Amino acid sequence: MAYIGNSVSRADGRAKVTGAAKYSAEFNDPNLAYASVLSSTIAKGRILRIDASAALRVKGVIDVLTHQHRPPMPDNDQAYHDDVAPEGGSPFRPLYDGNIVFNGQPIAVVIADSSEVARGAASLVRVEFAPEAHATDLEREQDKAFPLSNDTFALMPSKPRGDATKAFALAAVRHDAEYFIPVEHHNPMELYGTTVIWHGDGKLTVYDKTQGVQNVQRYLCSVFGMKPDDVRVMGPYMGGGFGSGLRPQYNVALAVLAARALQRSVRLVLTRPQMYSLSYRPGTFARVALGAKADGTLDAISHEAVAMTSQFEAFARKDTIWAGALYKCANTTFSHKLARLDVSTPGDMRAPGAASGVYALECAMDELAVALKLDPVELRNRNYSDRDQNADIPFTSKALRECYRRGAAAFGWERRNPEPRSMRDDGDLVGWGMATGIWEAIDNLFTVRVALTANGHVEVTCAASDLGTGTYTVMAQVTADLLGLPIENINVRLGDSTLPQAQVAGGSWTASSVANALDNTCAELRAELLRLAQTGPGSPLANSGPQDVVLAGGSIVSKRDPTISVSVADAMRRGNVERIERQASNAPSQDEKYARNTHSAIFAEVKVDEQLGVIRVTRVVSAVAAGRILNTKTARSQILGSVVMGIGMALHEQTLTDHRFGRIVNANFAEYHVPVNADIHDIEVIFVDEPDTIINPLGTKGVGEIGIVGVAAAVANAVYHATGKRVRDLPITLDKLQS
Ligand code: MOS
Repeated sequence: MAYIGNSVSRADGRAKVTGAAKYSAEFNDPNLAYASVLSSTIAKGRILRIDASAALRVKGVIDVLTHQHRPPMPDNDQAYHDDVAPEGGSPFRPLYDGNIVFNGQPIAVVIADSSEVARGAASLVRVEFAPEAHATDLEREQDKAFPLSNDTFALMPSKPRGDATKAFALAAVRHDAEYFIPVEHHNPMELYGTTVIWHGDGKLTVYDKTQGVQNVQRYLCSVFGMKPDDVRVMGPYMGGGFGSGLRPQYNVALAVLAARALQRSVRLVLTRPQMYSLSYRPGTFARVALGAKADGTLDAISHEAVAMTSQFEAFARKDTIWAGALYKCANTTFSHKLARLDVSTPGDMRAPGAASGVYALECAMDELAVALKLDPVELRNRNYSDRDQNADIPFTSKALRECYRRGAAAFGWERRNPEPRSMRDDGDLVGWGMATGIWEAIDNLFTVRVALTANGHVEVTCAASDLGTGTYTVMAQVTADLLGLPIENINVRLGDSTLPQAQVAGGSWTASSVANALDNTCAELRAELLRLAQTGPGSPLANSGPQDVVLAGGSIVSKRDPTISVSVADAMRRGNVERIERQASNAPSQDEKYARNTHSAIFAEVKVDEQLGVIRVTRVVSAVAAGRILNTKTARSQILGSVVMGIGMALHEQTLTDHRFGRIVNANFAEYHVPVNADIHDIEVIFVDEPDTIINPLGTKGVGEIGIVGVAAAVANAVYHATGKRVRDLPITLDKLQS
């Protein structure tokens, strides 16, 4: 294999850096109108009156849509459902009626000749609200949280095992504490944006910032009663997603609404502050109790999560499942509750459920290690489980021991003095902490089409989205290897709803799924090429079967005797065709005999200025076991980005709400802190060999999310080691170290 498993630069790299790769708000039309959203300034209540007359008097303003002035929309809330919508619940219906259910809710859309006029005129729309008492504070509402029930949720916590309460009471060493993960927002560079091209005959091309063009297409057909042939949804490139583009957001619904109202092309881009009225990681309280024997063997694990959701949808992810899967323990209990707040519905944000749940679990493990006076790596090795304890099934592969070993070696962990505040560097306190990461390795159904022409050029197509993660690149690599052609000959097209079927790009499943789909498709192409090569008399491959040949160097080559071959061009000439095309899917395994996961071990070094409390993460080593790595460069970049995001989670990120108004007060890049270059120092990524012959034919797992899981815990544990102070509520800001 010339490409699979190697470092290959991004196929779309040049297009990205030269601006040739257009984002959804960059597609143009000569007759484009610009839409701007006006957002609610109350969290709950009703709109009594909207007066758009001043806005309509502005030169260049075309129309102002409100719930009272808009084309018809369905009143059946299930019409607004999408592939990623929470089970049950009632999806948000933008501009549907005068009820306000969250602060920042879109209440009017101003359409004008330019985006500046639209935005300026939006400020002239007068709105009279009838506010009602709202609740946006999870801390105050957590006692009213309701447990996930079997009727409405497939994502139930795992079943309890043994008697955790009794085992905890009897344990020689105990740890029981509450951790807090605040609301965090996705902040991809690209804003939520939609450009709708009106084709005149009612047909639309919709460029949308989405992780699933076919999901958006189905949503639009359902909401607007359009036929699939009349709505083509495209999003060939994205400036980052992190989960924010999994669901169709209100910008796409409102842009299409406006285009249909005006019968013309419309662009709608949300502002950065408006992005905060959508999708975010839910604020969560996590209580973890661990009981162990004196030797560190776990006897009891309890993990209770209380997270926030909206009034209209119940969003939850598997926060507690990791505590059940990761460590050997006979007595466990889990619970997951949701508190309804007057907020927009939370959403998936990189490793949803795990980034939060494993943060709490892995800080608790560190605290237990301190109580036991045991090395934190040793504690994890003593409780290592070769089986997923939740279902008591083996993993398809699990090279986590090797992650601990290689990560610790690269970090120099054996030089750690376990005593807090014992290590210093030039006056700074030095802390070394570690944590485990775990995520799912799920394949989902994807279909790809591969078209090969006689000159050895290939077009690969799939509706899948590339968030910027490397989907174009790995698809080109895999195809080039499987067809034995140079990668320059492979042209990949993605992000178009008319292309072969794709699930949303999420859950770290895309690269693995499309690679295995390509494996099947290219096998069909190889068989067809062989059939063509055997056409007519005197074929050198007359006696070969599909398994007896490989494609290499632009030829069909006999495995038994590599001197026997037929070039692709000759094969097509023999068969009298110029082009062959095949379409096939991967076959995601449905069996429940195995657990499918990626794992990691993260080691972090912090340096803390004792006077100022400033924390710097000076080194991180992340050792990852994720099956066969398709591209060491793009995969490493995924882990690097994840570690940066994990450092942000540990030290910087939090969405703050002024609960008097139920309004987010730091909805911008100035006041919502994410790590910048100066915050990031050495990050070393190690991919541990993890052969996996069970998970899928190529032995691949995904790497988009595993990199963030456990990072915040490793940093928090390092901060404790440096300072002797345990901060359990994220982010660990300097004021919390001083108090
Ligand atoms: Mo990911 S949070 O499934 O885009």
